[in-house]
Amino acid sequence: MNKQEQIDIVDQVIKQRCTSKYLADEPLASNLSRTSIEEVIEAANWGPVHLTAAKVHRSEEDDSILPWRFYILQASDCRSLGEVLVSHGDMTKVPNMLAAASALVQVTWLPNPPEDQSQDLLYDPTVENMEHIAAASAAIQNMLLAATARSIPTYWSTGGALRKSDVFAWLGIPEREILLGSIFLFPEEKTGVKVVPGKLRGKKGSTENWVKWVEFS
Ligand SMILES: Cc1cc2nc3c(=O)[nH]c(=O)nc-3n(C[C@H](O)[C@H](O)[C@H](O)COP(=O)(O)O)c2cc1C
Repeated sequence: MNKQEQIDIVDQVIKQRCTSKYLADEPLASNLSRTSIEEVIEAANWGPVHLTAAKVHRSEEDDSILPWRFYILQASDCRSLGEVLVSHGDMTKVPNMLAAASALVQVTWLPNPPEDQSQDLLYDPTVENMEHIAAASAAIQNMLLAATARSIPTYWSTGGALRKSDVFAWLGIPEREILLGSIFLFPEEKTGVKVVPGKLRGKKGSTENWVKWVEFS
């Protein structure tokens, strides 16, 4: 492959990545293998990172320096989680998405311990925490692009019910971690699903709307 072909492929994948929310009333069959999910997750490991996770997040069993963690549910576990959410009264679209998903990746970022415990903040507004979020976001974007290249539709969701403490407990996610996104991977096949695009997809405008060239002499 020559340089221009490589550039074209990368640009194409970046532009092809888009939000696709799949909603199913009945559970779909999924044939996305664990190996395919692992390939997509692997891409996240190649993102840029500046600061290491605080020691409070690390242990003998979990000694990664990275300021994020990924919790992966395969399709059958997505179906079970959806059923449990419904049995707990969830009336949102989350169970419908879990009925369609090939996988759900709960991505958390790892905040530094608060300086002042008495302040009731979700996390300290520090540059360090900003950089943890930024690095975790870059990891997610890598994952989305790797999925797109493999024709796996994706959806980055704030999570809704999936960010609640009972869901964290069911999935074994420590409470000190903060959900950055519930990332849905969906099947390519659209039979039996309603597909909803991202609300802002066509509203981004062009770079001219938000780029300022700075001349400094
Ligand atoms: C941090 C983050 C959280 C998001 N959460 C939601 C969400 O909760 N619900 C939703 O409909 N879309 C969510 N999105 C997806 C956006 O709606 C979508 O990216 C946007 O409409 C642009 O569409 P595109 O991804 O197809 O370019 C989220 C995106 C990001 C980056």
